[in-house]
Amino acid sequence: MIERSGSVLVANIGELVTNDPERGDGSPLGLCRDAALVAADGRVAWIGPAAGAPAADTAIDAGRAAVLPGFVDSHAHLVFAGDRAAEFAARMAGEPYTGGGIRTTVAATRAAGDEALRATVTRLRAEALRQGTTTIEVKSGYGLTVTDETRSLRLAREVTEETTFLGAHVVPTEYAGRSDEYVDLVRGEMLRSAAGHARWIDVFCERGAFDEAQAEAILRAGAAAGLGLRVHANQLGPGPGVRLAVALGAASADHCTHLSTMDIEALAGSSTVATLLPGAEFATRSRYPDARALLAAGVTVALATDCNPGSSYTSSMPFCIALAVREMRMSPAEAVWAATAGGARALRRDDVGRLAVGGRADLALLDAPSHLHLAYRPGVPLVRRVLHNGVPIT
Ligand code: NIG
Ligand code: FE
Repeated sequence: MIERSGSVLVANIGELVTNDPERGDGSPLGLCRDAALVAADGRVAWIGPAAGAPAADTAIDAGRAAVLPGFVDSHAHLVFAGDRAAEFAARMAGEPYTGGGIRTTVAATRAAGDEALRATVTRLRAEALRQGTTTIEVKSGYGLTVTDETRSLRLAREVTEETTFLGAHVVPTEYAGRSDEYVDLVRGEMLRSAAGHARWIDVFCERGAFDEAQAEAILRAGAAAGLGLRVHANQLGPGPGVRLAVALGAASADHCTHLSTMDIEALAGSSTVATLLPGAEFATRSRYPDARALLAAGVTVALATDCNPGSSYTSSMPFCIALAVREMRMSPAEAVWAATAGGARALRRDDVGRLAVGGRADLALLDAPSHLHLAYRPGVPLVRRVLHNGVPIT
């Protein structure tokens, strides 16, 4: 739901990241110095030099700090119950991550009431918003029955329009040894029940989850039901996920941790975004994706949190930016772009992830003079103020 408020002037901005290369310094971030911005009716109504700013109903003095588009977190799993802190501790002591813990969360989620699940989704959504995330994608995937997947999506829809049906997360225990029967359920009755609550469909295409033929059957059924496509691809090892995502015209191939040259070439010649989730590599102590090879090949890269109780329990896009810079050798500018404009591309949105007249008035005001500080000051809560749909968040 879009709230309405009076017009808001954000005055005295030291550095404005617009992601409009036609503006400011002409870089992909379209950096404007000494700028101001006016939001009205949820949209950006005016951007220009600080000295020439028009009046508005409310004014926020940025104090010469940096302002950037709100983060677009295009990959999160917020509908779950239970806690896997012990699994994390075991990994830090040397246990590998296999994705097997997903079934632990499925059991806890099925056992939870709507109110408990709603409380978690709402809490995590609010936590992300405070850290500057104004657009967030939320997946189902911890229900894995017709009823539990549908209610997960219904609850996700209460906090975002960007909902994704991930009935094909893993084969649930009761279908062990009968994965094709589960695939038929997912692409049949479960999809019919879930589709009205989802914009996207996603499949975990990985050894131990769903193979190429199963993933393709589910994604094609999702497309036929009017859903856009996303794929959890090449997270735990090399595989067909990325190429399948490209072949089916998916909006995004997510993880991309284990890529071949052919995978990178396929992405480069496509409109499929490579969404990198460095929080997962951090929390599973795994190698990081080769972001430099993707960028060198001209692939569009997004950064997202993968917020979930198993492989990446962070809702912080600034943390992911810091990891991308330190661990994946992205420049701070590339990482900030990927966390804003890149996420918008991964969700096929052009109204978010940039600051332009007519676009959504979603922005983050930092307690810092430039976007560089997001990577330079890791772990510091640098987001001072957020405007969401033109409304200042308190
Ligand atoms: O994106 N890879 C599959 N799904 C999640 C992990 C979920 C979990 O461990 O609970 C991911 O990393
Ligand atoms: Fe994920």
